[in-house]
Amino acid sequence: MNKQTVVGGIRPTNKLHIGNYLGALKQFVAISNDNQITSYFFIVDLHSLTTPFEPKELKTNILDAAATYLAAGFNPKNSNLFIQSHIPEHAELAWIFNCITPLGELERMTQFKEKSQQHATNINAGLLSYPVLMAADILIYKPNGVSVGEDQVQHVELSRVIARKFNNKFGNTFPEPQTYIRKPLRIMSLTDPTKKMSKTGDEALNMDDEPKEIARKLKKAVTASEPGKKSPGEENLMFLLNHFGSEESVRHFTEAQNSGKLKYFELKETLAQNISDYFAEFREKKKELLSKPDYLAQVLGDGARKARETAHKTITEVKQKIGLL
Ligand code: TYM
Repeated sequence: MNKQTVVGGIRPTNKLHIGNYLGALKQFVAISNDNQITSYFFIVDLHSLTTPFEPKELKTNILDAAATYLAAGFNPKNSNLFIQSHIPEHAELAWIFNCITPLGELERMTQFKEKSQQHATNINAGLLSYPVLMAADILIYKPNGVSVGEDQVQHVELSRVIARKFNNKFGNTFPEPQTYIRKPLRIMSLTDPTKKMSKTGDEALNMDDEPKEIARKLKKAVTASEPGKKSPGEENLMFLLNHFGSEESVRHFTEAQNSGKLKYFELKETLAQNISDYFAEFREKKKELLSKPDYLAQVLGDGARKARETAHKTITEVKQKIGLL
């Protein structure tokens, strides 16, 4: 039986938060340790350029993301971990896909609509063609599956549309990849629980936040004026407790919630303790990895070399099929 191929990526726009972890990185780690799967995971630096950024911070965040993957248990010996821009074939294929993707498909993307509202003074062309580059990131490895959180499903669908268009026009080249999601989930912002957690300010708990910082952010997390109203904030905290809490604390707070006796300050304190404990080993490992930049560079270099072999084969086939010399 042929091995499955799965791809995935995370933008190094800031530090990785617990939404990135539960929605994506946790699955990446499991896949990277599965020897029945060939996998390619990248740090998506080119996509980070579509929203405002500082060059110095970007540099730090890229290495930080690499240390985060590895400290979380990613296995670089059985998978390929690399930086997107180190494989120029991604951007090359994206240009070709740009020329077959209808503008209307891009304008209707939910993320484009949201981000153009958020960054109204910087609606650049990269923001619009973001999903085209993402389709290139995916299809260049001809995978069966794409490991993403629920919010990226629409982009994976678009990669199937692009694959189909290319195949119809130039002959069968790309498989249509499926989303590889074990459990669809969306972690909500702590400060506005009607929105997904994203990488800014106090709305996110970063994976490497120190215990005091976790407690501070959770203390401020928006809930409801009265416990038991099952507000989005309360649901989000209970959801996090289900993932990070001990069996005993899950039982205790679920009972309290059901009997109308939930106390937010107690829930927040316990959750802060549980999340701090869950990531304690991760925090130490990450610090250690960040002190070894040569090791990080070696892992990323090895990953890029192997990925580039596959990417090069695909781009050569594509160029030949579309009539480039
Ligand atoms: P990014 O960095 O925004 O998100 C990385 C991954 O984390 C998931 N995620 C969440 N899951 C649950 N709750 C949240 N609050 C939450 N926030 C983020 C996302 O679903 C994602 O899987 N466009 C991609 C990056 C990308 C990519 C690719 C992914 C570029 N090229 C090719 C797969 C394949 C993104 O959303 O990055």
